[in-house]
Amino acid sequence: MTASAPHSILPPPSTAEEAHSRRLTELVQQELAAAGGWLSFERFMELALYAPGLGYYSAGSVKLGAGGDFVTAPEVSELFSRCIARQCGEVLAHTGGEILELGAGTGRMAEAVLKELAARNLLPERYAILEVSADLAERQRERLMRLPEALRERLVWLERLPQRPVHGVMLANEVADALPCARFRVGAAGIRELGVALEACSSSSGAAAASPIRFTEAETAPGASLGEACEEILISLPGPLPGGYTSEVCTRVAPWIGSLGGCLARGLLLLCDYGLPRRHYYHPQRIRGTLRCHYKQRAHDDPYINLGLQDISAWVDFTRVAEAALAAGLEVRGFATQAAFLLGCGIEPLVMQAAEGIERTRLAGEARRLLMPGEMGEAFKLMALTRGLDIPLSGFALQDLRDLL
Ligand SMILES: C[S@@+](CC[C@H](N)C(=O)[O-])C[C@H]1O[C@@H](n2cnc3c(N)ncnc32)[C@H](O)[C@@H]1O
Repeated sequence: MTASAPHSILPPPSTAEEAHSRRLTELVQQELAAAGGWLSFERFMELALYAPGLGYYSAGSVKLGAGGDFVTAPEVSELFSRCIARQCGEVLAHTGGEILELGAGTGRMAEAVLKELAARNLLPERYAILEVSADLAERQRERLMRLPEALRERLVWLERLPQRPVHGVMLANEVADALPCARFRVGAAGIRELGVALEACSSSSGAAAASPIRFTEAETAPGASLGEACEEILISLPGPLPGGYTSEVCTRVAPWIGSLGGCLARGLLLLCDYGLPRRHYYHPQRIRGTLRCHYKQRAHDDPYINLGLQDISAWVDFTRVAEAALAAGLEVRGFATQAAFLLGCGIEPLVMQAAEGIERTRLAGEARRLLMPGEMGEAFKLMALTRGLDIPLSGFALQDLRDLL
């Protein structure tokens, strides 16, 4: 991956944004000092995104949508969420029960899914949202409390996964990519773990003490869990990775899928994210990994700037997700590109049903963005993990499970 936006063309933060970023930077600096001068990238990313009151998702910046830093498929078009609703409806018709959405962003997907299911007379008993960002949960409430009573009364926000077993559907769009990940590099003597240190000029005292705090990349021997994960990756690949090869591993995926799978009594866990099966993810040509930062609609690859003001994410290794699902006793029922999934769920008739003219032209444009390989159609994948569900899933009629496991 290469940066598409060099620093020089990133818009400068406002004075208030700079002050916010400085507070988070100081917090990271304190933790770095307490840890002896080196923090794992995973911990750095966790603080950057989720430090209480200061992290990107914990604090109040706009984040998603046209006025924010990046757009997700539900923000691009309600066609995406209507197709998701159709897949949910197919399952709910068999299982009954509820929908549980993880990380619901601005609430746009929940809104469109509920409306589509109402139109099809397939509303879930409840629509639960589990959101770690207090700021986004507030924005979800603002949007969703405007829905008609019959839909509104089904909504509930959860602090943690439900204690009672879930029947129905669990949804997570672009949540796995927001889980903090570790970074590694292939060195001359083996795997090195990448972490964060202070840039030399800002760690000294005296005149330099007034200079801004800057973080920089620093390598060390890998921690036990990263070392094991890298070994597993390397032996599963068809050939060695070149020296200097840098990439990401998200070891938090397995416990996350395990906890979701543990809750799902019967139904579907539907994940959507940008990612690849492992052997493509760790392709020798992807020498700089998959880490991306999004700031005011620009993508770049420097996580050490604009702390707390920009999103940081990494692609999802879907083989890791599938392995975790199998370990949790789930079935891996489907894996498809976003384009294949949306076509399977009938995105074309949804466009054609719109009145001819401006409305249909608008929807056709949005569908192109969701479907085209150079846009979101190919890089984004959907994965269906099920328990006790043997019905065909329309979204996965054109699936491609090759190389996944
Ligand atoms: C990239 S945003 C995607 C938002 C939304 N799903 C969409 O597609 O527009 C990531 C979302 O996941 C949430 N999140 C991150 N980790 C989470 C977790 N462990 N459980 C639930 N939500 C989480 C974030 O707060 C945020 O709402």
